Amino acid sequence: MKRTKVIEVLQSTEYGKEVVVMGWVRTHRDSKTVHFIALNDGSTIKNVQIVADTDKFDPEVFKKITTGACLNVTGILTESPAAGQASEIHATQIGVYGTCGSDYPMQKKGQSFEYMRQSAHMRLRTNTFGAVMRIRHNMAIAIHKYFHDHGYFYFHTPIITASDCEGAGQMFQVTTKNLYDLKKDENGSIIYDDDFFGKQTSLTVSGQLEGELGATALGQIYTFGPTFRAENSNTPRHLAEFWMIEPEVCFIDLDDLMDLEEDFIKYCVNWALENCKDDLEFLNKMIDKGLINRLQSVIKEKFVRLPYTKGIEILQEAIKQGKKFEFPCNWGDDLASEHERYLVEEYFKKPVIMTNYPKAIKAFYMKIDDKKPIYNGKEMEETVQGTDVLFPAIGEIIGGSVREENYDKLVCEITARHIPMKDMWWYLDTRKFGSCPHGGFGLGFERLILFVTGMQNIRDVIPFPRTPKSAEF
Ligand code: 4AD
Ligand code: MG
Repeated sequence: MKRTKVIEVLQSTEYGKEVVVMGWVRTHRDSKTVHFIALNDGSTIKNVQIVADTDKFDPEVFKKITTGACLNVTGILTESPAAGQASEIHATQIGVYGTCGSDYPMQKKGQSFEYMRQSAHMRLRTNTFGAVMRIRHNMAIAIHKYFHDHGYFYFHTPIITASDCEGAGQMFQVTTKNLYDLKKDENGSIIYDDDFFGKQTSLTVSGQLEGELGATALGQIYTFGPTFRAENSNTPRHLAEFWMIEPEVCFIDLDDLMDLEEDFIKYCVNWALENCKDDLEFLNKMIDKGLINRLQSVIKEKFVRLPYTKGIEILQEAIKQGKKFEFPCNWGDDLASEHERYLVEEYFKKPVIMTNYPKAIKAFYMKIDDKKPIYNGKEMEETVQGTDVLFPAIGEIIGGSVREENYDKLVCEITARHIPMKDMWWYLDTRKFGSCPHGGFGLGFERLILFVTGMQNIRDVIPFPRTPKSAEF
């Protein structure tokens, strides 16, 4: 007989019908005459209750039904007298696929997330990680649906690359060279001619540059793939391997870009509210009591659009009023997360899209603003049309920009930043042959999942986190 998923069993009202369910034991308790087994098969956060009369089964079977054991159960779907569940299964046959001993690492309830990370291969079977992983799946679907419905093409950019898109130099090298016997030239530099690709290559930090090639042919594309950064940031917001979504669109300006960022992220959050109700209710109860409220309010609120210079003015005013920050925030400084959080969580109390950053703190490809900003009555350095979307509890969730489409200006930036021109010729060709105004952004998938689930640590929203000194599983 065919297996019925727990999610379907719980929605069914075909009482009296025989069903077969398979899954893992969450709890097992008994009175003298009857055993109650909560079974979960991953299809939903909810368990189905199995009711088994003590005298109908071999006592040895009950001994094997411990937390974590895997069962197949045949029984009759019955309306449940118990509160909180419509139906239950009265067992006629119980088979044990796999027993589970007391050394099962997820045996106890209420283990810390830190403890569970050490058993990341088994933590997936807990309620919390089940909920997070189902939401993760649903958000991936939402992202593809949003872009597909809006006429974007899913474009695959390479994972192995010879260019450093963000120019931050935080790349993992890819090589087949024998590391014990590296050939070097007279200056001591490693010779890559005989390496697999005949040049130095790395794992990508962003698909943007190749994404721009796709967009300037197809009009609008998006990427959704793994991204790698060897930054030694041991924070609850950084992974060495994360997933990024990068739409790139032709013929848009800064306002259009911000409209897209806001519309897209609201769509994703709304999708979670509509499609992940049970999991969100669970997380709202167990992890973060303000979660669902926060998700609902983000959808309703118009995001603040704040030029960097105005942001610095607000921060400086706060300092005058007695606010203390650890790091400085003078015009020209890159904002620290304490500054971003002040603006989002205390000052505006809603998401902020910050724009028009000083050129010096942003990547080479951002379009330079026509006018220099005035701050304290003085003209400042050049700014660029970069946008960071700042979210409560998360900080930066999106980074994007309008791109510099002018060939000469772009060459000037590449030269000034000492980016090797030999790596950039193909990118510059987009500006040489039929250049066009365009822009895009990158959303950190795990940061979105952090926001949507209310989880506190980015290591707990990806199945197998990669962070400094940690690549187990
Ligand atoms: O701001 P970033 O560095 O922007 C880019 O890479 C651009 N090329 C995107 C574009 O315009 N197409 O990264 C984009 C986003 C960040 O806002 C953040 O959400 C996420 O990627 N991110 C990380 N997420 C987890 N771990 C890390 N180490 C991350 N670094 C960036
Ligand atoms: Mg950024």
